[in-house]
Amino acid sequence: MDKVQLGKADLHISPIVFGAWAIGGMAWGGTDDEDSLDAMRASFELGITTIDTAPVYGLGHSEKVVGDFVREVGRDKVEILTKFGFNWRTTKGEYMFDGAAPGGPTEKVHFYTGKDGIIQEVENSLRLLNTDYIDLYQIHRPDANIPIEETMETVEELVQQGKIKAFGVSNHSVDLMKRAEAVLSIASSQSPYSMIYRKIEKNILPHCIDNNIGILAYSPLQRGLLTGKITADYKFKEDDHRPTTKWFKEPNLSRTNTFLQRIKPIADDHGATLGQLVINWTIQRSGITAALVGARNREQATENAKSLDFSLSGGEIQKINAELDKVIIEG
Ligand SMILES: NC(=O)c1ccc[n+]([C@@H]2O[C@H](COP(=O)([O-])OP(=O)(O)OC[C@H]3O[C@@H](n4cnc5c(N)ncnc54)[C@H](OP(=O)(O)O)[C@@H]3O)[C@@H](O)[C@H]2O)c1
Repeated sequence: MDKVQLGKADLHISPIVFGAWAIGGMAWGGTDDEDSLDAMRASFELGITTIDTAPVYGLGHSEKVVGDFVREVGRDKVEILTKFGFNWRTTKGEYMFDGAAPGGPTEKVHFYTGKDGIIQEVENSLRLLNTDYIDLYQIHRPDANIPIEETMETVEELVQQGKIKAFGVSNHSVDLMKRAEAVLSIASSQSPYSMIYRKIEKNILPHCIDNNIGILAYSPLQRGLLTGKITADYKFKEDDHRPTTKWFKEPNLSRTNTFLQRIKPIADDHGATLGQLVINWTIQRSGITAALVGARNREQATENAKSLDFSLSGGEIQKINAELDKVIIEG
């Protein structure tokens, strides 16, 4: 898999990135660490060298498992993307939610991007990830209380200290991106983007294309829905956040599945699965640098990693887009 440059940064990543949220367990109905490690191994064997994680994914658990994989495979073989902001070791900032690492106590998670919080977080991430530098450090979401300019000054210090190589935003508006860029160059914007959730096409995507900011599309499978496996009687585990979201409720669930059945013949023609077709379509969209795709085990990871083994013709893309135009998601 040929690597791609992330915006203006001196950083090259695989166009499919292993997304390590679900392997943190929290909000995903638990996790199995051996399966998670095996998923990262399978991805790596097929050319996925980049991993996206965050401290809040299982309150340190995802970073720990990623760190175990980094030690196993060798630091110089992978690119590590992580984030800051959600912090359960502080009472500063805005209270967000209660959370727990697998088997751990309940913690109060705050959002805080003050200098002391970021320094505390980066040291923890470096330790858990078994590394002395992070390739891409991202602010997880906007901070309502700390001006982005202040955050950027702290980030700049981390770049100078060599602790991070590049900086990216996540879930930020164009206005906030412009303010951040006035202080320090932004490598990327990590944003939600899937076939059925294309809000960023309006403002964020054009801004990133015009300013050579990489786009990391997150949840491209709409959290598993776009594999076609989620039916009305699908049983989620306790603590899985998905059934409470609009995508997994009616009428959206049926409408999405009807759409998937309509495009399935295109996947079949390539000997591909629906999930592979969806990931392929996502990455070929204008402005998308990479798709961050979660996987829980070797089987899923292997399937996802092979998503770029075929090319969609212009006609096929047109057919998919025409079907997509008919899908109306409520809420
Ligand atoms: N910056 C942010 O705010 C933000 C927010 C969300 C995500 N992200 C990043 O983006 C990454 C990917 O997004 P995501 O994990 O939300 O969603 P996703 O990639 O759309 O879906 C991942 C989930 O779909 C299921 N799945 C994946 N491959 C499959 C396959 N081949 N067959 C069947 N099921 C499959 C798995 O869950 P099950 O097996 O449990 O169904 C997996 O955990 C995250 O891991 C994270 O790194 C960032």
